[in-house]
Amino acid sequence: MARDISRVGVVGLGTMGAGIAEVLARSGLSVVAVEIDDEGVARGRGHIEHSTERALDKGKLDDRERADLLGLITYTTSLADLADVELVVEAIPESLEQKAELFAQLDKITGPDTVLASNTSSLSITEIGVHTSRPGKVVGMHFFNPAPVLKLIEVVRTVMTEPDVVTDVVAFAERLGKEPVVIGDRAGFIANALLFGYLNHAVRMYEQRYATREDLDAAMRFGCGYPMGPLALLDLIGLDTAYEILDTMYHQSRNRLHAPAPLLKQMITAGLLGRKTGRGFYAYDAPDSPTVV
Ligand code: 3HC
Repeated sequence: MARDISRVGVVGLGTMGAGIAEVLARSGLSVVAVEIDDEGVARGRGHIEHSTERALDKGKLDDRERADLLGLITYTTSLADLADVELVVEAIPESLEQKAELFAQLDKITGPDTVLASNTSSLSITEIGVHTSRPGKVVGMHFFNPAPVLKLIEVVRTVMTEPDVVTDVVAFAERLGKEPVVIGDRAGFIANALLFGYLNHAVRMYEQRYATREDLDAAMRFGCGYPMGPLALLDLIGLDTAYEILDTMYHQSRNRLHAPAPLLKQMITAGLLGRKTGRGFYAYDAPDSPTVV
């Protein structure tokens, strides 16, 4: 019989985790949202309040619907509050060590049938799952940024994931109004494996001063109908995240397409991570100021 998932935990309330918590609450689910400290909780809550306020301003939610949605989310700094959820979606930073430790803890705290999902974009679900006593109930649930807007969820199965867990997670993703696809555990899954070679190539073209950032982006928007050009998209994703994804794929396949462009590393060292730090390929903190790179 299919699992009845009505209470869900989200661990990590950065851009992705906060977006995922919002998506879940929008579908009427109770969400236990966990961050490491009060500051993290305040930041995550701020993300969700801002995003739902925008929906209110656009008339996509009314006051009552927004209040109901926000009322479905409980914020906490204690993992113990996840004791009775049926599914946990982990969205903490991309460190295998941290994720392994978290999954080992979740394994002890949650019921034996609770599904443990990771939103990782670059790490192996298999390597995360082996740190639990239930690798058959560990899957990837990879959302795309911005999670409230983009429909795709990649459901990642490992050689250990039980088939009914995959079926239930796919059905759950459909219940969220998303488009699930199922993929085995390989670096980049489907979308990032195809997307990041293109993004990396755009950085190399920019690095070689082949074209301006505006023209590179305009070419893909107006010539190919993409909603954003590659450099603007890298700023949205975060250059540090993009680097991690490329580096992991490069180490797995040695395909030079995925060898991170040197400029990415330089920009990360300089703190130009994209929208989240106010500057990346474009400046967001002072849009009229000249760009640094
Ligand atoms: N949260 C919630 N809603 C948002 C949002 C956010 N962060 N950003 C935009 N929206 C909503 C807006 O409210 C608007 O809704 P409406 O059409 O109902 O009024 C709609 O999205 C369109 O937004 P805008 O009009 O402000 O701007 P655009 O039309 O330019 O759309 C965009 C913005 C949705 C970001 C669009 O440019 C886009 O889809 N870009 C491509 C993003 C993409 O490729 N993401 C994947 C990155 S890879 C990834 O995430 C994988 C990971 O592993 C790294």
